[in-house]
Amino acid sequence: MLITNARLRSTSRLVDVTVEGCRFARIAPANEEPAERPAEREDVLDAQGALLCAPFVDAHMHLDYANTVGQPRMNESGTLFEAIGIWADHKAQGLVQRERVIERAVDAVRSEAGNGVGFIRTHVDVTEPGLTALDAILEVKDRVRDWCGIQVVAFPQNGILAHPQGTELMAEAMRRGADVVGGIPHFERTREAGVASLRRVFDLAERHDALIDVHCDEIDDEQSRFVEVLADLAIERGMQGRVTASHAVAMAYYQAGYMAKLLPELVAADMRFAVNPTENLQLQGWGAPAPMPRGVAPIRELTEAGLNVALGQDSIADPWYPIGEGDLLRVLESGLHVAHMLTEPVLRRCLDLITVNGAKNLGLEDYGIHEGARADAILLDADDDKSALRHHADVLASIRGGSLVFRRARRELLDPMEGFAA
Ligand code: FE2
Repeated sequence: MLITNARLRSTSRLVDVTVEGCRFARIAPANEEPAERPAEREDVLDAQGALLCAPFVDAHMHLDYANTVGQPRMNESGTLFEAIGIWADHKAQGLVQRERVIERAVDAVRSEAGNGVGFIRTHVDVTEPGLTALDAILEVKDRVRDWCGIQVVAFPQNGILAHPQGTELMAEAMRRGADVVGGIPHFERTREAGVASLRRVFDLAERHDALIDVHCDEIDDEQSRFVEVLADLAIERGMQGRVTASHAVAMAYYQAGYMAKLLPELVAADMRFAVNPTENLQLQGWGAPAPMPRGVAPIRELTEAGLNVALGQDSIADPWYPIGEGDLLRVLESGLHVAHMLTEPVLRRCLDLITVNGAKNLGLEDYGIHEGARADAILLDADDDKSALRHHADVLASIRGGSLVFRRARRELLDPMEGFAA
């Protein structure tokens, strides 16, 4: 395949990109060697100046919950803890059925992939004794591998210690093929149980040489401080750079004095963050006195401290969040607004939050548009990061492993004011 006249994020000059097999073989200035370009080739994709970008990475998603909103009931309070209760009822009523989970999750992945997402880290609830959802999502991972890569986190939605079989189910989930060890310390019954649950998370990760991604402090409580425990354990166990704190909502409530102590610890542990701005804006702050807290981890402070922050959709139409379609440009827009990050330096590189930063969390080693890398890419109808965000760029094409997944025609934008004098 040959991709001609593409713009890269790093340069304004157009380039031609040659793909050989499943890899980018050569990136050269456009039209540099026309003799090498057989005009009749059918596998030429003329980018017409569109932005060739590495695929979006959804760093935090729950595919097993996708498209279940209203089953068995709607979330009337809008809160996180009502959603967890609804999901417990969903399980108790036998609504987690293999074929239904597969069908709904594949729909969700199709929607994400259509929005330019090439990699998803999905948490899967493993506190259901049959592990039906886990097996279903492992099947989904296989079915969609030609258009989207999936990384599966064993996620103990109802706790590791708080659930009677939590520890055994987590171990079994890793044996069955989950890639990453999850946790939910703020949901355990006491702070001490939360800390003990994290020790079990690290033990299990060590046994499988796996990465860790914990739902950490997803609660409107400035006293919830498991992120410091995660960092401490990462250092103690020599797992710096291998641990992600997801959501980290309580950080939005931490006082400046504590943050000043905490941030260097997080840096020392090379902690990764997965933040979900749209969902936590919906879930957090209910019942709080005015002024209403934002309830989203402090993306700007974390980024300025040099920590890796990636964004995720988290939910597609489930008890936690009634909308969502895997549209990461929308998630990015919300995240930059809530974090006061609409500054020129950030906007110039804003796609990092939904591309390379996510790839770093997931440990993707072969990611990016450069010679020798795996040929995964999307074409955005934009000139640069800022215009992609501002105009909510259409995804014109998706390429995975050197093969075209889809291609769309560029939209004709008609000027509705045409004919009116200025
Ligand atoms: Fe989550």
